[in-house]
Amino acid sequence: MKVLVTGGAGYIGSHTLVELLGQGHEALVVDSFSNSSPAALDRVRELSNGWLEHEECDIRDSTRLAQVAVRFRPDAVIHFAGLKSVGESTRRATDYYDVNVAGTVSLLRAMEASGCGKIIFSSSATVYGEPEYLPSDEAHRIGPTNVYGQTKAMAEQLLTDWARAEPARGAILLRYFNPVGAHASGRMGEDPRGVPENLMPFLAQVATGRREALRIWGDDYPTPDGTGIRDYIHVTDLARAHVAALARFATLEGADAYNIGTGQGISVREMLQAFERVVGRPLPHEIHPRRPGDVAEMRADPAKANRELGWQAEYDVDDMVKSLWAWQSANPWGYGAPPES
Ligand code: NAD
Ligand code: UFG
Repeated sequence: MKVLVTGGAGYIGSHTLVELLGQGHEALVVDSFSNSSPAALDRVRELSNGWLEHEECDIRDSTRLAQVAVRFRPDAVIHFAGLKSVGESTRRATDYYDVNVAGTVSLLRAMEASGCGKIIFSSSATVYGEPEYLPSDEAHRIGPTNVYGQTKAMAEQLLTDWARAEPARGAILLRYFNPVGAHASGRMGEDPRGVPENLMPFLAQVATGRREALRIWGDDYPTPDGTGIRDYIHVTDLARAHVAALARFATLEGADAYNIGTGQGISVREMLQAFERVVGRPLPHEIHPRRPGDVAEMRADPAKANRELGWQAEYDVDDMVKSLWAWQSANPWGYGAPPES
């Protein structure tokens, strides 16, 4: 298939491109590089031989985006481009609605202009908000508790209404749990700007000495060791879920949502211990009060994706940590050069 990939230079997009090209699909990336570097696409090209082009373009530039789409005539779109920081979303609410919701409207108009009716969307487990039951399946009520989650829930609604408007349209909403890890080659991985907000990139930077100590946000949760539990999913498993989802368009009517997780819960302490095993030494950490907005536990019921997409997570926690460490230790400054001292 010819696939237009928005945000393809980002963490999840770049890993998905390698899997897509490896399966013989052709990809055109549209990315503003606001949170990524073209160097990530060079690494994708290094790891795969398939047809890959890219255009530097903001998805909110509707005229340009439509021109790109009309020229490429994609069979399907995978829509990763977006702003993703929960903490920042409160302070920059207008930007988050503009990119994540208005940007999606702009993309749908470009798809209409080019005659493409199939889209896979990067949604998030955060749309569920405080879990009512665990593991959460797709029928769980939608009730985001932060601005970022609201923008994802609104984009899901928009895509659902858009897909229902014409019989030839279809939207697949992939609700990612916690994507972590890196490509097995150690050549691609997550490259956050500034101080990482998420556990795994922060921990990796503690291990390289770039950060002093991991701050564990709370050890008084009602969990076996008191720290928060999440459903971490290897980024390569997540990438493959997108390739598997392309086949779903053959029978899809309207929109459908899928949880993409392993179903296994891992605590912050367990993750820290797994990391310490891989690097072979203890890692400095401190206990701090709970982070506002965090829940004790999030865990996916991935049965629907297993059944309907024919997809299943294959990698375990050790694979996640080993691949992350291979990437971080070989590329301590990500895709960029070290800062001048
Ligand atoms: P990322 O920031 O690494 O990638 C996003 C890409 O989109 C970047 O290359 C960025 O430059 C690009 N982009 C941002 N705004 C743009 C714009 N206006 N126009 C064009 N390009 C733009 O993030 P990621 O971790 O790869 O996440 C990809 C998607 O998955 C996002 O939509 C995110 O919300 C969603 N998601 C991520 C996680 C996670 O933990 N990483 C979890 C759930 C959902
Ligand atoms: N944590 C720490 N110290 C840190 C960072 C995190 O103890 O420095 C803890 C958190 O309290 C939580 C766990 O590690 O218990 C995971 O936190 P992350 O920030 O890595 O991930 P979240 O579950 O909070 O959120 C992530 C993404 C969201 C996404 C969500 C579900 O940041 O965008 O997963 O997909 F919506």
